[in-house]
Amino acid sequence: MEFLGKHILSVDQFDRNATEQVFAVAEEMQVYAERKRITRVLEGAILSNMFFEPSTRTRVSFGSAFNLLGGEVRETTEVKDSSLAKGESLYDTARVLSGYSDIIVMRHPEEGSVSEFSEASRVPVINGGDGANEHPSQALLDLYTMKKELGTKEKGLDGLRIALIGDLKNGRAVHSLCKLLSHYQRITFNLIAPQELELSDEIETALIAKGHTIKKHVRLEEGIKDVEIIYVTRTQEERFASQEDADRYKGLFRLNQSIYTEHCAPNTVIMHPLPRDSRKDAQELDIDMNENPNLAIFRQADNGVVIRMALFALVLGVVEEVHNHSQPVTWFSSRL
Ligand code: NCD
Repeated sequence: MEFLGKHILSVDQFDRNATEQVFAVAEEMQVYAERKRITRVLEGAILSNMFFEPSTRTRVSFGSAFNLLGGEVRETTEVKDSSLAKGESLYDTARVLSGYSDIIVMRHPEEGSVSEFSEASRVPVINGGDGANEHPSQALLDLYTMKKELGTKEKGLDGLRIALIGDLKNGRAVHSLCKLLSHYQRITFNLIAPQELELSDEIETALIAKGHTIKKHVRLEEGIKDVEIIYVTRTQEERFASQEDADRYKGLFRLNQSIYTEHCAPNTVIMHPLPRDSRKDAQELDIDMNENPNLAIFRQADNGVVIRMALFALVLGVVEEVHNHSQPVTWFSSRL
């Protein structure tokens, strides 16, 4: 895949080679993300970080990634703070913003909106999540995390057995992850979801057509046996017609330390794109697992920075230059 100047809208743009290329660049970024060195390779460049839906990790890690490469970040976080609230079209907003920035990251509640926006943009646009559709950078960081976590156990992604739990219908992180994983060999997907929130037939059929195995489970305890990775997700309540509607699915599957100890193979890795819903009626991933060394959720969130740095470096064509603009850090760093 040619990254230079391209929009990143969907994981459909990535084959296995392109995915591995992002991972290789992410490795190069580790030293900067860990603040062992600094680089100013994007000095003078401006990112417009446009988040028209709630976000903590994705917004801040895209912003941090750009800052770590030496660039500056402008943010808009709510529709009501932007001219979209005055009836401005995505087309006009894109034409205007792309005059102010070198690259744009956008999250928007409507499926396909980021793609529509990108058509009018004069600079590359990265999809930070469009409704229930896709979340390509999340899938890349999830897969990168899986690769690293399995790597410590001398395993690779081919032949992976993974349990996907929760709202598989509305979870864009899951949608993008399934598509990206489909480029690897012989994956077994244990799908654990309420019937109404199952993965779409379209994604399921595409996985089967590529030779992967799908097993459906209604009981959490059955589905989490014999897997190497458990990927827990939140009920995407913002996609439901009403709160009562969403509440019917809250708390149906709850993973905690005693269930893990009883049913999982030793060292099963636990992932979640976050935020996990820690309210009493949800608790899909109990905080009593916080000390479990196989809980990879915070390493996963950390990996968002290097993956997003890699995407910026590839799209803006500075991969070869990054280290030429680097210096040691001058301040005290507890990470060293
Ligand atoms: C995910 C999202 O926004 O799709 N969060 C994230 O970006 N890390 C998952 C979620 O909100 O449940």
